[in-house]
Amino acid sequence: MKKTFFTLMGVILISGLLAACGSTSSADGGKDAVTLKLAHNQSEDHPVNKSLEKFADLVKDKTDGSVKVKVYPNGQLGEEKEVMESVQNGTIDLTKVSSNTLESLDNVYSIFSAPFLIKNQEHLNKVMDSDIAEDIYKSTEDKGILGLTWYDAGERNFYTNKDKAIETPGDLKGLKIRTQASKTLEKNIELLGGNPTSMDFGELYTAMQQGVVDGAENNVTAMTDQKLGEVTKHFSFDQHMFSPDILVIGKSTYDKLDSDQRKAVKEAAEESSEYHKDVWNDAVEKSIAEAKDMGVEFHYPDKAPFKEATQSLREKFKNADATADYYKRIKEAGEDIDDDSEE
Ligand code: GCU
Repeated sequence: MKKTFFTLMGVILISGLLAACGSTSSADGGKDAVTLKLAHNQSEDHPVNKSLEKFADLVKDKTDGSVKVKVYPNGQLGEEKEVMESVQNGTIDLTKVSSNTLESLDNVYSIFSAPFLIKNQEHLNKVMDSDIAEDIYKSTEDKGILGLTWYDAGERNFYTNKDKAIETPGDLKGLKIRTQASKTLEKNIELLGGNPTSMDFGELYTAMQQGVVDGAENNVTAMTDQKLGEVTKHFSFDQHMFSPDILVIGKSTYDKLDSDQRKAVKEAAEESSEYHKDVWNDAVEKSIAEAKDMGVEFHYPDKAPFKEATQSLREKFKNADATADYYKRIKEAGEDIDDDSEE
């Protein structure tokens, strides 16, 4: 009986500590300030964490301290999909989540996993700074999550712990490749001849080290920030997709903010995305240099055979209800942009 009582008290205490959108008195002793929890899975040193800290500073300034954001990096509040679900049910207020993971919230986000649809960084910037992204952000309101802005997460490329580099799709044959929780990513790997294995980002280092998987795919900051360069031999810039990171807020948290606070949060998000553009490319250059020092060899394969092998997946996006309109708009946005992956 006593034990049950203490267990119950413990649960109440922990729930109180974890409850999102905690209110505290403001520094001037006046109206209550609200502190929002923002959790994500990159380290303190990762460029996206710097941009999220920038977002937090901007929110505080723009709301005169009536809204504060506390950033929890390093997956300390959970892995990416888990945190996304906590934002959805209101126990965490905000998260920065890969668009690929958002596919499990709503199929609309799978458009960013369409291989070779977005051609390069210029095309990505154009799409993400337009109404295309804004329409996608708003479309998941009924699922309890709203997008606020995006952060460049580069392009996804294959890397392996094998002696042979991935130079053509044929080199993926028989390899176990880790993917995020995304059916599209799994399909992409299958079309290229590999065997997809879905797992959380936090589990990848050990899985690569122990040979549970032979490789994975991501941008190059993963080599240094997650120390994956220690268990990687070859990294190939095939650039199969440019999947952005998205800053999302829970609908229940958003509804608790007044209209001035919502405006401030949105502006802060957009300004932090601009700030991120300044830090991202430098971080990539730095990661390449550091990864080389870790012994990783870099390769620049011809992208055309990878694009050709995944044609049927792009056709699917072109015709599916959830994505057909976005597919068309993204294609149109890229019409004047050169493509170095043309077959
Ligand atoms: C990128 C992305 C992360 C994601 C990771 C992954 O690094 O920015 O949000 O978790 O890919 O492969 O899981």
